[in-house]
Amino acid sequence: MKVLVTGGAGYIGSHTVLCLLQQDHQVVVYDNLCNASVESITRVEKLTDKSVEFVEGDIRDRAALTEVFHSHQVDAVIHFAALKAVGESSQIPLAYYQNNVHGSATLLEVMAENNVQNFIFSSSATVYGESNEPPYKETMVLGQPASPYGTSKVMVENIMQDVAKSNDKFRGISLRYFNPIGAHESGQIGEDPKGIPNNLLPFVAQVAVGKREKLSVFGDDYATKDGSCERDYLHVMDLAEGHVAALNWLASKPEFTGVEAFNLGTGTGISVFEIVNSFEQATEQKIPFEVAPRRQGDLPAFWADANKAKEQLNWQAKRSLTDMMKDTWRWQSGNPQGYVSHD
Ligand SMILES: NC(=O)c1ccc[n+]([C@@H]2O[C@H](COP(=O)([O-])OP(=O)(O)OC[C@H]3O[C@@H](n4cnc5c(N)ncnc54)[C@H](O)[C@@H]3O)[C@@H](O)[C@H]2O)c1
Repeated sequence: MKVLVTGGAGYIGSHTVLCLLQQDHQVVVYDNLCNASVESITRVEKLTDKSVEFVEGDIRDRAALTEVFHSHQVDAVIHFAALKAVGESSQIPLAYYQNNVHGSATLLEVMAENNVQNFIFSSSATVYGESNEPPYKETMVLGQPASPYGTSKVMVENIMQDVAKSNDKFRGISLRYFNPIGAHESGQIGEDPKGIPNNLLPFVAQVAVGKREKLSVFGDDYATKDGSCERDYLHVMDLAEGHVAALNWLASKPEFTGVEAFNLGTGTGISVFEIVNSFEQATEQKIPFEVAPRRQGDLPAFWADANKAKEQLNWQAKRSLTDMMKDTWRWQSGNPQGYVSHD
């Protein structure tokens, strides 16, 4: 298939592009590079010995998107492009709705104009909101996320439902990611957040490499196994493979129309302290930390019911927590400044 990957230069996108190329799909990456470096794509090309067509552009730019669909016979779109910093989304909510919601609507419109029906969307466990009890199942009614970022994901899922009602050819998949961490085993591509990392593992890795002084653990008095928050961490390469599985599922089901949601997680909650211990053991690095007050909007614990993806997509996360730690460290220690030092 020829797959248009929006946001394909980013963290999850670049790992997915690598898997797509390895499965002999052709890939066009469309990214405005607001949170990525094109170096990630160059490295994916080297790792796979295959080439990627890269177009620098914004998903809100209808003319540029139309041009891409006119110059490529696109079979499917995997849509990663979004702003994703949960805290920042409360400070500048309109930028998040503008980018994530308006951008997705523009993309869906241009797809429809060009008769492209296969759409795989990067959703998130955050769509289950604050009132659903873990493990989260796809059959749960979507909740009220604590942030504009989360709300933007619920809004795009709702838009997909409405598109499917109005267009009986539309074939949408919503992949609800839990907490991707780790990096490709080569250490050549990985997560390269701009500024202070919002997520736990990049922060831990930057402490280990000496870029940050110590880790703040937000709250140690939750009703969890050790008092710290628990999340369902999965290896980014497992997550990337989940996209190929979703694409294969679409290809194997020509009769399918509508929207289907799948959780991509391991089904297990891991605490912040377990992550720190596991990182220390796997890498022999010491991670100084302090306990800080709870962060507003943080849920104590959640994890996936991952059975639907296993049964229907034939996908299961298979890499271990130790793999996640070792691969993170290989990437971070080999690229202490991320991609920048190689630009
Ligand atoms: N990383 C996570 O923990 C996580 C969890 C759940 C869902 N997601 C979702 O997965 C997707 C990918 O996340 P990621 O971690 O790889 O983030 P990322 O920031 O590394 O990747 C997003 C990419 O989209 C690009 N982009 C952003 N806005 C754009 C626009 N208007 N036009 C074109 N390109 C644009 C960025 O330059 C970047 O390359 C996002 O939709 C995110 O919300 C991520």
